[in-house]
Amino acid sequence: MPTRRDFIYVATGMVGAVGAAAALWPFIDQMRPDADVRAAGLPIDVDLSAIEPGGTIIVTWRSNPYFVRHLTEEEIASASELTEGDMKDYAPVDGRIAAAEESANPEWVIVSATCTHLGCVPNTVDNAPEGWFCPCHGSVFDMTGRILRGPAPINLPLPPYVFADATTLVVGTDQA
Ligand code: FES
Repeated sequence: MPTRRDFIYVATGMVGAVGAAAALWPFIDQMRPDADVRAAGLPIDVDLSAIEPGGTIIVTWRSNPYFVRHLTEEEIASASELTEGDMKDYAPVDGRIAAAEESANPEWVIVSATCTHLGCVPNTVDNAPEGWFCPCHGSVFDMTGRILRGPAPINLPLPPYVFADATTLVVGTDQA
């Protein structure tokens, strides 16, 4: 017949087992593929509805940051005025500005946020009113990511993307 002492031993053992399992859980949990990791490489949906002209968000695809910029009319005009002689890595502006689905107005730039010199993240500040300025070594890109000045050798790359509808951008695929 179980004694009171037996009950205490069993209860103590159960508490120990639960404690051990709880301690083990973080290790087991870390071995499960995280949702972000599982999603890495898959296309991502980006809601454009809240990005006013002049606004930028940074999205992450395949662990790399990308700018999604809603260009103003002035920015489009400024980028369109640049000539081949202004650029180190000439690319026509048409291929770098996109129109959302159902829109006739090319006004979106989706471009890598990683400087092609040594990998810093450029920003928009007074140093480069025409576009992106990399604070690390002073590279200046136009608003579509074309290198104008500084040590960066090539333009900011464009990811594959499509517009699913008027306010949804899909980064990571060029298949509609
Ligand atoms: S990392 Fe951007 S200029 Fe050097």
